[in-house]
Amino acid sequence: MNLEVREENYIENLNWRYATKKFDATKNLKETELEKLIESVRLSASSYGLQPYEVIVIENPEIKEKLKAAAWNQPQLTDASHIFVFANFKKIDASHIDDYLNNIAETRNLSREDLKGMEDMLKNTVLNFTEEEQQIWASKQTYIALGNLLAAAAEFKIDTCPMEGFNSAQFDEILNLEEKNLSASVVATVGYRSDKDPMQHLEKVRKSKQELFHIL
Ligand SMILES: Cc1cc2nc3c(=O)[nH]c(=O)nc-3n(C[C@H](O)[C@H](O)[C@H](O)COP(=O)(O)O)c2cc1C
Repeated sequence: MNLEVREENYIENLNWRYATKKFDATKNLKETELEKLIESVRLSASSYGLQPYEVIVIENPEIKEKLKAAAWNQPQLTDASHIFVFANFKKIDASHIDDYLNNIAETRNLSREDLKGMEDMLKNTVLNFTEEEQQIWASKQTYIALGNLLAAAAEFKIDTCPMEGFNSAQFDEILNLEEKNLSASVVATVGYRSDKDPMQHLEKVRKSKQELFHIL
C-alpha cells in the first residue's frame, strides 16, 4: 500500500470510529487483536518516559458486572469484549524513578553513572510535586495512552468507548487498586459495535478547523 492510501485510510478510520454505545456481546477480540492493542498502549509517549500508570485489562464476566454497577450501569461495560482500566500511580517515589533509570541503562547499555544528570533532574522535579500534583500529572499521562488505544483500535477496525462515567473509588475497590498504589483514571471498553447501535450512523460533531486551530 502506498503512503498516500495509508494516510487517507487513517483519516477514514478516525471517521469510522465513534464512542460505541452498543457493543455486540457475542463478538470477542481474538488474542492477536488484543495483543496489538496492548502493544499500541505500551508504546505510548509519557512525560519524561516515566509511564506512571498501569493498565488493567478485564475479560472476566463477573468482574465486568461489578464494574458496570460502578459505572451507572452503562451497558458497554458488560457487552464489550474487554475493558481497559487506565490506573495512575497515587504516589510516585524514588523507587519508580530508579526502576525507570535501570530500564534505560539496561535497554541502552549504559551505566547508572551515565544517567546521573537525568536522575537528579527527575528526582528534583517529580519528587518535589505534592501528592496531589503527582496524581494529576500521572493521570494526565493515562489520557495519552487512552488516545493511542482509540486511534490504534480504529486502524484495526476495532470499536471502543472511552469513559469517564464511572466511580473511581468503587473501581479501585473492586480491582484492589489502592494496595497497588493505583487509582482508576479513565476507562475504555473495547470490542465490536452492534449493527443496532444508531450512534454509528450519526455525523461527527467537531469544531471547524478555523475555530480549533490558529496557525501563526
Ligand atoms: C475522556 C472521555 C470520557 C468519556 N466518557 C464517556 C462515558 O462515560 N460514556 C459514554 O457513553 N461516552 C463517553 N465518552 C464519549 C464522548 O461522548 C465522545 O467521544 C464524544 O461525544 C465524541 O464523539 P465520538 O467519539 O463518537 O466521535 C467519553 C469520551 C472521552 C474522550
